[in-house]
Amino acid sequence: MAVIYIIIYSLYGHIKALAEEIQKGIEASGTGSTAKIFQVPETLSPEIIAKMHGASFDLPIISPSELKNADGFLFGIPTRFGNMPAEMKAFFDSTGQEWVAGSLRDKFAGTFFATGTQHGGQETTAYTAITWFVHHAINYVPLGYTADELRDNTEIVGGGPWATSMNNNTNNNNNVITTNSTSNFVGPSTTSRGLITEENKSEKKKRSMKAWFCCGCI
Ligand SMILES: Cc1cc2nc3c(=O)[nH]c(=O)nc-3n(C[C@H](O)[C@H](O)[C@H](O)COP(=O)(O)O)c2cc1C
Repeated sequence: MAVIYIIIYSLYGHIKALAEEIQKGIEASGTGSTAKIFQVPETLSPEIIAKMHGASFDLPIISPSELKNADGFLFGIPTRFGNMPAEMKAFFDSTGQEWVAGSLRDKFAGTFFATGTQHGGQETTAYTAITWFVHHAINYVPLGYTADELRDNTEIVGGGPWATSMNNNTNNNNNVITTNSTSNFVGPSTTSRGLITEENKSEKKKRSMKAWFCCGCI
């Protein structure tokens, strides 16, 4: 039975929607594991968020000192120029006391992503996040090719060996996720259907995986 903190940054809602599906997957896993969703502190002003047509979400804000209470973490990271957004980096940079104390040592972490485009840098976002795990001696748990859907090239889907992920239509980048977002993903839960929207009803895109790795390994 593991306590998993899902820690996200989301400006347009795609990562938040993925986080909610992942939470359902963990809770439906039958392991007794629990998952709580947090967000990292925002660094943008309300004026800038409005200019970016983004949103603010009503989620608890994680503090570095709370991290020690979890067995594992899933970080939801929307790609920014092939890397993590400044908000996630600022949170990672605020964990110096935990690093000195070694309080995150031997915990587990995975990641999940959203990009606007198919080749927009999901792997590089994961790759560049790993340094934080390494310095804290946190075990990074990738997805590998643990689901057949990850080998399917017949259409554009999210997900890969690094993590669960989704591609949202670049045209919708400047809009908070709505019923016309063309999001698709390979998700972690048997109940991960909620993200499928009006323009994206193909059965093949409603695929999902039965378990999220952290439920089984912690
Ligand atoms: C400043 C900025 C930079 C971005 N950089 C990339 C990028 O390098 N590659 C990509 O595919 N999408 C990029 N995007 C799109 C976001 O990664 C994408 O919309 C993401 O799914 C948003 O997640 P959210 O809805 O949870 O905020 C960028 C968006 C912004 C605002």
